[in-house]
Formats: sequence, structure tokens, C-alpha cells
Amino acid sequence: MTDKYAVFGNPISHSKSPHIHHSFAEQTQQAISYTTIAAPTDDFADSLSQFWQSGGCGANVTMPFKEQAFALCDQLTEEAQLAGAVNTLTKLPNGEIHGDTTDGFGLVTDLQRQFGHLKGKRVLLLGAGGAARGSILALLNSGIASLCIHNRTMSKAEDLAQIFTRYGEVSANSLIEPQTAFDIIINSTSASLNGQALTLPPWIIAQHTVCYDMAYAKETTAFNLWAQQHNAAQTSDGLGMLVGQAAKSFQHWRKVMPQVEPVLASLRQQLS
Ligand code: ATR
Repeated sequence: MTDKYAVFGNPISHSKSPHIHHSFAEQTQQAISYTTIAAPTDDFADSLSQFWQSGGCGANVTMPFKEQAFALCDQLTEEAQLAGAVNTLTKLPNGEIHGDTTDGFGLVTDLQRQFGHLKGKRVLLLGAGGAARGSILALLNSGIASLCIHNRTMSKAEDLAQIFTRYGEVSANSLIEPQTAFDIIINSTSASLNGQALTLPPWIIAQHTVCYDMAYAKETTAFNLWAQQHNAAQTSDGLGMLVGQAAKSFQHWRKVMPQVEPVLASLRQQLS
């Protein structure tokens, strides 16, 4: 029987994950099936349990089920424990469910691919929701010099900084005090998804600053437009992060790391 995988979410019909994973499977010459499952918002656990009973080997989980999936895992990576959420579930040979969050890996590898090593960089992370929380450990482990977290609701940025303080140089920053610009600015807020611009002071960008929006769209995102208007050295959307997080999920399941670039190129073409 072909090994069965799926992505759970609601809504989920727009998901690019089946295309990405089928491309990885083709590239690595593996036979898998990968479908979307729109679980009812009040019945994720049952829906997932049915999937395991029907022979499912692994699953991705997206909005709004990442925290519920976390609660259903028997084993968790340190990254998942700190994120309080998972996007990758693996059924182990002993029947236990292993959970990981691979978004941080997707982000860091895409930053490195586009901008080079991150060693010594001063990084500003905008937003303090689930997307931010899932990426902080990977950022701190990538060799950056420091991470500042800024959020509209500052108390949430302070809470996050507190959670990760023993893993590296991390602090909350209101961006009220003008100071040295950042090397890398990452937007994890959902503002871009809603086409909203953030209110940000211009001094956070210098000529060398690179800006990364975790969101992606056919058109330049509102955050990246702002960055370009303020002469950022480079901007990127989050399409590469999407493919990168999927690659790490695929590696969990199939024990081989697929190549990101060809799949990213085909997705980019589809998007335009
Ligand atoms: P996700 O899981 O995508 O991170 P979330 O947990 O709901 O979603 O978090 C959304 C983030 O985007 C939060 O940091 C939110 O700021 P608040 O904590 O102040 O709500 C931020 N956000 C959303 N819309 C925003 C906007 N228009 N301006 C600034 N920040 C915004």
C-alpha cells in the first residue's frame, strides 16, 4: 500500500502542501499519497484519529489546529515544546505520535539561502503570535547576535522574550527609542495577510537591511512595499519558508531531505 500523508486545516482547499510533497516524492523517487483534510473546527481529534486508523503515516497540521495537535502528541521535539504547537506529526513504529514544528527550520534555511549566513546579525522580529513563537528557537540557534521582538501588544512580546531568554540574546523592544538599525527584519504578523501596513519607525532600516515577510502573495506584500520604499537592501516573501518547512516534514517521514529550489521555482511560477 502507498504510504499515506495529509495536511489538516480549516480552510485547507487552497493548500500548496499536496503539490509540494508530491514534487518531493517525485524528486526522491518515492511513492506516497498526500491529501488535504478539512477537519471540522470542533472535531480535529476524531478526524486525526480516523486518519491514523486508516493507515496514515504522517500529517501536517495548519490553522487552526496546531495547538490541538500539540496536545495529542506522545513525543515532542524541544522546538515544539517551546512553540506550544506542532505542524508535523509522525506515526512511530510503536504507535506513538511524534510532533515537531518545522517553520523555524523553513525560515532560517530560506534566510541563509537568500542572504547568506546569519552569524552576528541583529534581527528584529515583528509580531508575537504563533508564527513568531514557532520561529524563535531556530533563529536563536542560527548564530545571530541578538533578537528583538516588537509587537502591537507589547506585553505579548515581553512574554515571548521571557520564554526564550535562556536560549540566547532575546528582548522585547517597543521601537520608541531611535537606535542602530537592524540587519534583518522579519514580519511574522498577520497584517500582511490582511493587506494592512504596520506602523513602523523608518530608522529601523539602514542601507544594508534585508526584510523578510513570512506571508507570500502574487503582489509584493504591504510590509515589503514599506521596506522597499525605505530603501531596504533586499526583500523577500515567505514562499521559500513554506517549501523549507515542508522539506523538513518530508525528512521526518521519508528520512531523506529533498531539494527545495526546484519546487520553489515551480511554485513561484504558479503564483505569478
Ligand atoms: P499567527 O499564528 O499567524 O502568528 P496570531 O497568533 O493571531 O497569528 O498573531 C497575529 C500577530 O499579528 C500578532 O502579533 C498581532 O498583534 P497583536 O498581538 O497586537 O494582536 C499581529 N497583528 C495582526 N494584525 C496586525 C496589525 N494590523 N498591526 C500590527 N500587528 C498586527
